[in-house]
Amino acid sequence: MYDHTDLAAMQAQSLKMQSWIRKQTFSPEHEKTLRRFSSWEVAELIFKVNQSTFRGKLAADPSLPGGEVEEEGRQRWFSLEEINELRRRMKFSRKPLLPHRPAGKRAVRAAVANFKGGAGKSTVALHFAHAAALDGYRVLLVDFDPQATLSHSMGLTDVSEDHTVWGIMARDLVRETDRMNAAPAGAATGRAAPKRTLPASIRDLGLSELRPGDFIHRTAWSTIDIIPSCANAAFVEFASAQYRHLNPEWSFFACVARYLDALPDEDYDLILFDCPPAIGYQSMNAVFAADMLYIPSGPGYWEYDSTTSFIGQLSEALADLSDGFADFPTGKVSLPKAFHDIRFLMTRYEPGNDLHVAMFDAFRKVFGDNVAEHPVELTRAVEQSGRFLCSVYEIDYRDMTRETWKRARKSFDRAYEEFRDAIHLTWDGIEAEETAA
Ligand SMILES: Nc1ncnc2c1ncn2[C@@H]1O[C@H](COP(=O)(O)OP(=O)(O)OP(=O)(O)O)[C@@H](O)[C@H]1O
Ligand SMILES: [Mg+2]
Repeated sequence: MYDHTDLAAMQAQSLKMQSWIRKQTFSPEHEKTLRRFSSWEVAELIFKVNQSTFRGKLAADPSLPGGEVEEEGRQRWFSLEEINELRRRMKFSRKPLLPHRPAGKRAVRAAVANFKGGAGKSTVALHFAHAAALDGYRVLLVDFDPQATLSHSMGLTDVSEDHTVWGIMARDLVRETDRMNAAPAGAATGRAAPKRTLPASIRDLGLSELRPGDFIHRTAWSTIDIIPSCANAAFVEFASAQYRHLNPEWSFFACVARYLDALPDEDYDLILFDCPPAIGYQSMNAVFAADMLYIPSGPGYWEYDSTTSFIGQLSEALADLSDGFADFPTGKVSLPKAFHDIRFLMTRYEPGNDLHVAMFDAFRKVFGDNVAEHPVELTRAVEQSGRFLCSVYEIDYRDMTRETWKRARKSFDRAYEEFRDAIHLTWDGIEAEETAA
């Protein structure tokens, strides 16, 4: 017979071996670095200008970053930092290369969510983040999933659970409880709310002293930061239920929204959430903080079925919040929760497969304009990327069949460009809403 003490002993044994096992099983290149991009890619795929015009401009101004030439190679290869400097300093036909970014507004927040496991959430979040960074945007990723696929893919493998969304939620519980305890009596009743006490085990974590920036990690992509996750953060679902019991008035679903509101508006352009395959405390925080909801779904009937039940359960959960937190203060995000945009994005799509085509048509019949026009195609470039997800943007095109790479990149580019248009529209909405507030 085994009880919890046996499980604890097994875990202690496993923790002792963890770092040795990690060293044995990680490939030497587990320290993630970002490759350079060739002048062909920079000109035609990133800046969308003619390659010889680009080369001519570079030659005409020796003060511009010139990239590196590989041994026996002819092309120049540029780092992301060099690409961003070129973007700031170059103009083509008098047009600057900087991306659209309305001044004085906060970053757009988009959640990639569906409770169907393996729908392609992390793949979509990773590709949109990389595509946006190559487009000149500054991105903050938030990994809400203790499977930590996105964190690992961005090169973060050694994360303490205090510095994940769990830490943000526990910190919020302490701060909100203190704020509520200090609040004067309610205007309507004249009575003060009962004082709530939190156990020392939560206060002693010291999370309330952390500053917002303490949760943010840099990555090998200089313009992509991440709030990572780790397996230990899976406990957040269990702990949050206990936290709610300690303070039933705590708006547990708004912790991340409040946290993000405290970041300076100009730090990022896009904040992208990768959600776990579940509706729970973590995904409710993601959905509540999001301006846009992107719902990836595979092209099979069962995926359609589970996407349908996902939106049903999400709708019920959001309705419950509106009923249960009638006095929730209006801030940057308020109740009832409203999204600027909701899109269904078909993933792992094969245009030559009749069943996939029929499923895509069915999605459009049912969800109309809320279906993204460009599905993400099934591609070996992603399937073969190895033990951690790697985006097609990171993979050097010389490492695989050029046609496969080009086709994959084109599919993700199209999906990203549509996503970017949706971000621009959302920015327009944010302005109207927050000026009016
Ligand atoms: N467009 C694609 N082409 C080929 N393979 C894909 C594509 N999208 C996703 N995959 C593969 O499908 C698997 C699941 O994808 P992913 O991890 O993105 O799904 P997920 O929805 O985040 O899963 P989970 O629910 O476990 O978080 C991965 O192995 C990934 O490589
Ligand atoms: Mg995932």
